[in-house]
Order: sequence, then structure tokens, then C-alpha cells
Amino acid sequence: MSFALSRRGFIGSAAALSAAPAAVRAAKADAAAPVPVNPLVKNRADAQIFRHEDGYYYMTGSVPEYDRLVLRRSKTIAGLATAKEAVLWRHEASGPRSGFLWAPELHQIDGVWYMYFAAGPSGGGDDVFRIRTYAVVCDGADPMTGKWRVLGELQTPWDSFNLDSTIFVHKGVRYMAWAQREPGIDTNSNLYIAPMKTPLTFSAQPARLTIPTLDWEVRGYKVAEAPAILHRNGRLFMTYSASATDARYCLGLLTADENADLMDPKSWTKSKQPVFVTNSQTSVYGPGHNSFTVDEQGRDMLVYHGRDYEEIKGDPLFNPDRHTRVQRLYYTADGTPDFGVPVGNGPLPERFVSAANPAALLAHEGTRLIGGNPSLAQTQFRQTKGRAGKDSIMLSPILMPDHYLVAAKDGTVTLQPDSKSADFSLRSQFVRLEEKGQGLLRFAAVAAPGKAIGMVDGQVALVASRDNSAYWRAD
Ligand code: AHR
Repeated sequence: MSFALSRRGFIGSAAALSAAPAAVRAAKADAAAPVPVNPLVKNRADAQIFRHEDGYYYMTGSVPEYDRLVLRRSKTIAGLATAKEAVLWRHEASGPRSGFLWAPELHQIDGVWYMYFAAGPSGGGDDVFRIRTYAVVCDGADPMTGKWRVLGELQTPWDSFNLDSTIFVHKGVRYMAWAQREPGIDTNSNLYIAPMKTPLTFSAQPARLTIPTLDWEVRGYKVAEAPAILHRNGRLFMTYSASATDARYCLGLLTADENADLMDPKSWTKSKQPVFVTNSQTSVYGPGHNSFTVDEQGRDMLVYHGRDYEEIKGDPLFNPDRHTRVQRLYYTADGTPDFGVPVGNGPLPERFVSAANPAALLAHEGTRLIGGNPSLAQTQFRQTKGRAGKDSIMLSPILMPDHYLVAAKDGTVTLQPDSKSADFSLRSQFVRLEEKGQGLLRFAAVAAPGKAIGMVDGQVALVASRDNSAYWRAD
């Protein structure tokens, strides 16, 4: 029998799991929240970020030294970047938890805070990879200030390498999903699921959900690890990370119907291709070990780590530059998550939907601006500070970060590299005009008074700034 489900206890760590009622999400809407800037938190890998019912975002993750469990919180996602970080617990002087501490996750169960993590001994040699899953438990209501003590080791069917545990609740049952090496299977780790009886024991034999076999799962190492769960649109989506932790690291996806038997491996369909991979255009390499949360407006967010360079000297596991990153998570028409590409360093990008023609977004094909929806990445544009006074801004497509929208003399709007010329510095400047309370905005061209960026019959051009085609909705 699973232990009592505390709805209260799970709003926090399950924030990204259950589609919070729109009214709740709307009530929490805070459109004025500062825009997060990637990398959100440097040198924190395997990040878990969730919004708890106390209104705080909590964040933990692996530190490069792998020697301590840390936690920070903020009222906004962007605020995590500068939030004070508490050390909850440090690895022990000797014994099975005196070496690496990996991939912590914070969960509240029946009002009690637990932090799960993988740990190994410090004896040197291969023994340091004798990694097992443990939990520490907090003695108080505030995880940032409470005292933490070891609760014990997770009881799994095999005494073998296991890590990256996560907990979620579905239909009143609390499950754990984790990665483990199974005797007799020649992989580094596979994914397992089991209903929980207590914080460290299961109420049924675990089920094996996937073994890394596809080419993109076995590059460098045969790995399926770091499961994360998202419950949306009648389905459960379980992302996981695959291959070596260098630029080949990527996300895979398992999908199950919300009414299926989650313990039946046949309920889970594996995507044949990875859903989130390295992108050299946005300079994010080895994106993975993700979690999910919602932003201040209740919109789904993907949390993950990634480096902003490809070549790594030495063992990637000891490279400190897996930085925590966040970005919006969108969906395709059939409700499947569209992960797009890792958006790259800088303020989070937005999509701009034509108010006059909602089927068309501002997009680009190479350096040509178009109206349409060719792919998520081709519709994401980053707004940065302009050069024509405090209200001016510049717009750049995430796939061509060295190109900017330019109001050309002939009335067209094109993408051009920053030539540093006076003409470029004038024609690349726009002012974002928001229609308060209507969610509508316009981009007035500094170089063309009375004109703004518009879309007419799928063409992007300068139009009269009050023309219907000059109005956009940010998404
Ligand atoms: O970051 C340490 C470990 O490396 C994580 O537990 C795992 O997901 C990754 O491969």
C-alpha cells in the first residue's frame, strides 16, 4: 500500500507534473517577472527547478566538486541566478557517501522534505563509481534552514550502480523512476519505475522501461539516465538523457497514455530520434539531465544543463561548465512537447504571432524574414538592448545570433549581420510598444518614423504603425 498521498506535499515537487488549473496558474500569473538570461546558473549540472506552493522556485543540482548538496530559492526563475545558496549536507569523511554526490532532487512527502541523491565512496580507483541512491531528511518545515540527516539507502533489486532518481505522483500513486545498471545487461544504465511504499522502499517489483540500444543512446557509453516526468494533454512524457556526457549527450522521450498501466513497459513508446540535441548555431553542447517547471505565468519551462563550447579537455564528468539553462517548452498541434533547440546564451527568446493572422508567426528562412511556422527554432527571436536611446531594442533570430532585423530604405525588413556602420546602427533599432492589457505589441522602426514591422500576406515589411498588420502577440 503506497503511503498517504499529500496533495499539499506534492504541489511543490509535482508542479511540473500536473497541469495546474488555469485559474490557479492565472492567479499566479506574474507577467512582470524579469526575463531569465541563459546560462541561468553557471557550473550547476543536473538541475532540478520546481515552483512550490509557497510561491518560491527551489533549485538544486550537482556542483563541480561533487562534495555537497546545495539548495537555493527565489520568487522568480530569473532570481535563482543570484539567489543565496545553502549547503544542506556535505559528503562524509569516509564510507559509502564520502565521494561523489550526484544529481540531488528535493521532494516534499506528507509535509516532510527529502533530498534524494546518488553517492559513492572516496576510496579511489573504480570504487568511486560504486554509486548508490540515498536520501537525507530535513527536521523542519524550511528546507533552507532545517537540519538534514541521512535517512538511508534506496532498496533496489540489485546491489549495482544506480542514480538520478525522481519521484512523481499519478492517479494517487507515488512512483520513483531512476537509472540503474542491471546484472546481465551490457549497458551503463537503463531506466526503471516502481510504486513507492516508503521513501526508500517499493511496494512492487520495479519494471524496466528502456535499455539504451539506438545509435544516439550508445555514443561513448550505453546510457539511459536522468528520467523526468511531465503530465500534459492526456499523456505522461518521460524524458531521459543518453550517451556520454560530452556534446553527444542528448534527450530521449518515452510517452504513455495517462490511463495506461505505467508499470507495463509496453505502455511506454520510445521516440526513435532524440528530442533535444547539441546545436552549433546556438552554441549549446551536450544538453541534458533535464527537469520541468512552469514560469511565473504558468507556462511550461524546460530546465537542463549544457556547455557553450564543444571541445572538452579530459573527462567530461570533471568539466565544470555544464551550466543550468531554462527555456519555454512549446507543444505541437497534437499536444506533444516540441523541445526545439537549446536557445543559446542571452535573454530568453520569444515568438511573435501576427494578431491579424494567428496562423503566421514572425519567422525566417536563412536571412529572409517570412510569416509562417516552419519550425519552432525559426520562430524564436531574442530581444536585446538597442543603441538609439533607452527604449530602443534589437531583434535577432536564435539560429543566427550575429544577424539582426533591419528596416531597409525600400520598406522591407531583412536580416543583416552587425556591420557596425552608422546606417546599420540606425536601421536595426526598434521600439517595442505594448498595448496595455490587450497583450498586443508593435515594433516601431526608429529609422522610419510612423512605420512598424508588419506582416502582409506572409511577407514581413514596414507598414503604417497603426495598421492591423503591425500588431503582434508575444508567445
Ligand atoms: O553529473 C553527475 C552525473 O553525470 C549525473 O548523475 C548523471 O546524470 C550524469 O551523467
